[in-house]
Amino acid sequence: MRKRIVAGNWKMNKTRAEALALVAGIKAEVAALGAAEIVVGVPFTDLDVVGQALKGSAVQLAAQNVHWAEKGAFTGEISAAMLKELGVTYVIIGHSERRQYFGETDETVNKRTKAALAAGLKPIVCVGETLAEREGGQMTAVVERQVRAGLAGLQGADWDQLVIAYEPVWAIGTGKTATTAQAQEVHAFIRQLLGVLAGAAAAATIRIQYGGSMKPDNAKDLMSQPDIDGGLIGGASLEAKSFADIVRGAL
Ligand code: 13P
Repeated sequence: MRKRIVAGNWKMNKTRAEALALVAGIKAEVAALGAAEIVVGVPFTDLDVVGQALKGSAVQLAAQNVHWAEKGAFTGEISAAMLKELGVTYVIIGHSERRQYFGETDETVNKRTKAALAAGLKPIVCVGETLAEREGGQMTAVVERQVRAGLAGLQGADWDQLVIAYEPVWAIGTGKTATTAQAQEVHAFIRQLLGVLAGAAAAATIRIQYGGSMKPDNAKDLMSQPDIDGGLIGGASLEAKSFADIVRGAL
C-alpha cells in the first residue's frame, strides 16, 4: 500500500509572521491525522522558522526549488545541503511555473533531482501538459518526455525516495480541475512508464500526486482513484482549514 501524501505548495505567499500563523493552524488541525504524510512547501525565507515550529510534529517541510551544484558562484541560489540544514525533507522540482517563467527545462529538472537525492532530500518532480498540448493531442508525449528526461539516470534506491506530481497546467489556479477520469488516465500512464524505467516493484510503490485546483470538495474523489496517491495543493493550502479538509479526504 502506498501511503498518501498531501503537500501544500505555498508558492510566493506568506511572510514570516503569516507563515507561523498558518503552520500553527495546520498543526492544530492535523495533529490527529496520522494516516497520510503531510507536507508544507514554503518559501525559502520561511523555511527556518517553519522548520522550528514543526519540530516534534508529523508535518514535514518542503522547499520549492533547489540548485544542483554543491556550492559556488551561483548568486541567488540555494543548495541541497543548505536546505537539509533547515530540516527540509522534500523539495518540489520542475513546477510548471518554474518551467514557464524561469527557464526550467527537463535537463535542469534532472540535475536538480539528482542533486536532491544525493543530499538525502526527497524530490517531488512535477510534470504536466498545457492546454494547447492537450488539445493538440500531445498530452502523453509531453508527459512521457518530462518523466523520461527528468528522471534519467535514477537507479536503485533513488526510486524509493521519489514522488511525482502530475499537474495539468490548464488546471493550476484556474478552478478547472481535471475530472477524476482524466487525472486517473494520466496517473496510470505515468505508473506504467515508471514500470519501464524503474521496474514493476518500484513503480507500484512510487507516489503520484495530483495538482491543479484541488479543493476540499474534490480531493476525496480524486484521491480515491487507484493511481492517485495524494495532492499538491496551491491556493487551498494557504488556509489551515481547507488544507486540513483536503488531508481528511486522503484518509
Ligand atoms: P492550485 O491548487 O492553486 O491550482 O495550484 C496547484 C499547484 O500548482 C500546486 O503546485
